[in-house]
Amino acid sequence: MKMSQPFKDKVVVVTGGSSGIGYATAIALAEQGAQTAVIADINQSGLESAVAYGNQHELSIESMQLDVSSAENVERMIKTVLDKHGRLDCAVNNAGIEGEMKPTHECSEENWDRVMGVNLKGIWLSMKYELQAMLAQGSGSIVNVSSTAGVGGLPQWSAYSASKHGVLGLTKTAALEYAKTGVRINAVCPGAIETAMTDRIIEREPSMKEMYVQLEPVGRMGQPAEVAQAILWLLSEEASFVTGHAMHVDGGFLSF
Ligand code: NAI
Repeated sequence: MKMSQPFKDKVVVVTGGSSGIGYATAIALAEQGAQTAVIADINQSGLESAVAYGNQHELSIESMQLDVSSAENVERMIKTVLDKHGRLDCAVNNAGIEGEMKPTHECSEENWDRVMGVNLKGIWLSMKYELQAMLAQGSGSIVNVSSTAGVGGLPQWSAYSASKHGVLGLTKTAALEYAKTGVRINAVCPGAIETAMTDRIIEREPSMKEMYVQLEPVGRMGQPAEVAQAILWLLSEEASFVTGHAMHVDGGFLSF
């Protein structure tokens, strides 16, 4: 059966796309017809694996190494995409780090700056240059990856939770600023998803595995592909009247 092609001829960028949610999203976009899915990530070996997967499966995947917390890197990424493809239709700002697990009074300044730099400044920088491209062409769709920790507090993760609340503030503000321009900006708030990030957390604190399952009303952790499908819908024309929305993809967690 031929898969539907809602992203046919679209040029898309996914930051943090060499692992977990970003990887599942980039692959799904390429499978659904994207002319090119540009995976932008700091991890060079992850980028190489993603491109190899694309080559094996005849998917149009390109890679670009960058640090999303660097303005110079992000500006270069968008310029490279525009120079090569002439347009940018969709962007998924997903790159993120968890940082240290410590109560607020023990959170180091270094951890605060690093988490904010990647998770919040990185999303702002990505939006800044993506928006310039999309405004010039009069169309585009952006999805930012926040978290359930962007809606409620998350004990031991103050910098992470603050950064993810900030992502929703950026998303809603930009959605209002550009509502009349043909550019839509939305966010997803995933619950506990099985990725390298949660693997790292469970490795540090094994009791988290059981905790993640208990926290999810559906009784299991989510899969990256389940978040990817929500992101694809928000990016697509199916969601043409949706902007400024923060979609919970969390197995019911935020319904408590
Ligand atoms: P992951 O660790 O599997 O993937 C994160 C990706 O971001 C990696 O490929 C990593 O190399 C990249 N990255 C990290 N720092 C970067 C930087 N400075 N510049 C460019 N790329 C960078 O983690 P996962 O779980 O797929 O996370 C993706 C997003 O989803 C993150 O923003 C995370 O906060 C968010 N999220 C994850 C949840 C989960 O339970 N896994 C729950 C809620 C939100």
